[in-house]
Amino acid sequence: MLKSVARLPLMTLRCLSSNSTVPPTPPSGTTTSKAPLRPRPNALTDEIIRVDHAGELGADRIYAGQMAILGNGPMGKTIEHMWEQEKCHRKQFEQLIQQHRVRPTIMTPIWNVAGFMLGAGSALMGEKAAMACTVAVETVIVEHYNDQLRQIMESPNPDKELLETITKFRDEEQEHHDTGINCGAEQAPFYQAMTEVIKFGCKTAIAISKKI
Ligand SMILES: [Fe+2]
Ligand SMILES: [Fe+2]
Repeated sequence: MLKSVARLPLMTLRCLSSNSTVPPTPPSGTTTSKAPLRPRPNALTDEIIRVDHAGELGADRIYAGQMAILGNGPMGKTIEHMWEQEKCHRKQFEQLIQQHRVRPTIMTPIWNVAGFMLGAGSALMGEKAAMACTVAVETVIVEHYNDQLRQIMESPNPDKELLETITKFRDEEQEHHDTGINCGAEQAPFYQAMTEVIKFGCKTAIAISKKI
């Protein structure tokens, strides 16, 4: 089963590509609440959608914070590209949370502020520190999504749509990680300590968001 996760194909950079079965994001001006409701999810799907919704909200805010500081600099385009993908991820889970009537985590306002502060704070330490933040966050998220893919595949009735959505997003998070490395994350001051602290924070946020 672990091997089958590792073999899942890398998908394209394009967010919500035309050959994906991920439902399209509603055009601007429409509300996601009009998306058709689904049957109430089982406990696993409920937990997955709640925690991933929180995680993608946090990721959106991290990149927003980085853009606020570095948006006009040489790394602006690179960060903006990753941010655009995170916005798609967030929209997708906002749609799923409504369709499946999943309760969002009560920590949503906290992750909103904490995400922006992490992004802006790391960016204030410089471009390489911002990339180190990206590497740390995306390392945890890729592991987290791989864990979920295993759980879904081992469940009695795997949710095919959720499987494909998470696979696509996992691949894009891996690309963000690789971008961070290629942009000099490992040359950031205190790289090891900084990434360990951020990873611990992300894992804690994931554990909390699963349950409350
Ligand atoms: Fe994401
Ligand atoms: Fe990402």
